[in-house]
Order: sequence, then C-alpha cells, then structure tokens
Amino acid sequence: MERSLVLIKPDAVERNLTGTLISRFEGLELKLVALRMLQPDKELARRHYAVHRDKPFFDRLIDYITSGPIVAMVFEGDNAVEVLRKAMGATDPAKAEAGTIRAEFGLDIERNTIHGSDSVETAKEEIKLYFA
Ligand code: RTP
Ligand code: MG
Repeated sequence: MERSLVLIKPDAVERNLTGTLISRFEGLELKLVALRMLQPDKELARRHYAVHRDKPFFDRLIDYITSGPIVAMVFEGDNAVEVLRKAMGATDPAKAEAGTIRAEFGLDIERNTIHGSDSVETAKEEIKLYFA
C-alpha cells in the first residue's frame, strides 16, 4: 500500500477547481486519508522543491507556489504514486496526454494546476513536510 502527496496549486484554487480536482482523484480508486488548505511560506516551499534549487526557474516556482492558498492531500492505495502521476500528465500542459488533468486544466509549464510525488521515498518526505 503506497501513499502520495498531492497539491492543488494556487492557479487551480483561484479558479474554483478544488472540488472538481478532488472528485477526479477520488475517481482513481485511491483513498483520501488527509487534507488541509494552507498558504505555504517560502521556507516550506524551498524545502519541498529543494531538488530544483539550482534550476533557472526556482525563484519563480517559489514565488508562485507561495502566492495563494493551496490544498494538500494524501492519497493511499495500490501504486498510488504512479496512478496519480499518470492522471496528472506531463509537467508542461501543452505536452500532457489528452484526458490528463494538466492537459485539461493546466495554464502553462509553471502554473500546471497540481503536484504529485514522483516516488514512494519522495512521498514520505513530502507528507512529513505538509502533515507534521
Ligand atoms: P511537480 O513536482 O510540481 O509535481 O511537477 P513535476 O514533477 O511534473 O515537475 P518538476 O520537474 O518536479 O518541476 C516542479 C515544478 O516546477 C515548475 N517548473 N517550471 N519553467 C520551467 O521550465 C519549469 N519546469 C518546471 C512547475 O510548476 C513544475 O510542476
Ligand atoms: Mg516534481
């Protein structure tokens, strides 16, 4: 049984997509086991995205993810990480497969609507950050 962290990012909360997205995730036959709304501070954002600290887009990413409220959730189930990543689609909505959440709702590569953990190990660390 795996767990994964999902974030509904500021662009989606702002466009009133929270309920729509939670429904989509619940349709994946995963169990929602934790949920909270918060506006992350820069320290939390930098810790979450530390792996990208040397990327040219890092500062913009931190500004963006701290720009408004987000919804953090933990989903549990068989292959939760992979199931969620597949449903989300590629990082760049323009390249995401049709039918995926980012293809349908993503605005651009930076404002791409949702986050999902990329491995079981990363998920454990990320869940600790958002659900102490
Ligand atoms: P995430 O971590 O948010 O689930 O997204 P991801 O795995 O699909 O993509 P990742 O490479 O981990 O990038 C993290 C977030 O940084 C922003 N980004 N901007 N301007 C750019 O080229 C660029 N590349 C990535 C996106 O918000 C991406 O989700
Ligand atoms: Mg990532």
